[in-house]
Amino acid sequence: MNLKEMVGIEAAGYVKDGMVVGLGTGSTAYYMIEELGRRVKEEQLSIIGVPTSFASKKQAESLGIPVRTIDEVDVVDLTIDGADEISSDYHGIKGGGAALLFEKIVATYSKKVLWIVDESKMVDTLGAFPLPVEVIPYGSQQVFNLFEKKGYQPKLRTAEDGTPVKTDCHNYIIDLHLQSITDPEALAADLDSTVGVVEHGLFLDMVHTIIVGQPDGPAASHVRE
Ligand code: 5RP
Repeated sequence: MNLKEMVGIEAAGYVKDGMVVGLGTGSTAYYMIEELGRRVKEEQLSIIGVPTSFASKKQAESLGIPVRTIDEVDVVDLTIDGADEISSDYHGIKGGGAALLFEKIVATYSKKVLWIVDESKMVDTLGAFPLPVEVIPYGSQQVFNLFEKKGYQPKLRTAEDGTPVKTDCHNYIIDLHLQSITDPEALAADLDSTVGVVEHGLFLDMVHTIIVGQPDGPAASHVRE
């Protein structure tokens, strides 16, 4: 069993009967959704899933997990998602899979957020992983130029055929190759106030519990109540 599968299965154990569960996106969240599907089928677990991408929605439906959008539920009890980096003070970068907008919305309206990662994602300081920023296509060249002027080392995310990657909301992703983010709050405030930016992948003070996959087993840390 690989580390992503280990933490995916472990995290699915946090889900209780009757919960509304935010279903993250990515190769780690994949295993968590598979395990929830197994529990729905074999243990008659009764849950509602709120997917954070079309890919997770498709997977959940294929497993028989009933799904709703974030606007069709009152509140999400627990969201389980992956992350690209987690700093020593428990801030995160997300969006490597281009699903950061739905992921942040679902996490924001969740009572609890649980991140599942393998140990390679734990870092002292964020930024070695390029920070994804979702932008509206209209004016995106101007936003790109602005990022360049600010020294943010932007790169438009493209598919294999060279065309821009489009998110589930048909936006573009500009990845900022910052190397080190020493003041994530200031950077988040700057991006939040940039016209044309829809959302960015800095998830600050959002996580409650982290499960880290290590060769000797999963290690859970409770970060905040
Ligand atoms: C998708 C995400 C993912 O959670 C993040 O990229 C981690 O993915 P993986 O589990 O495949 O390493 O933020 O937008």
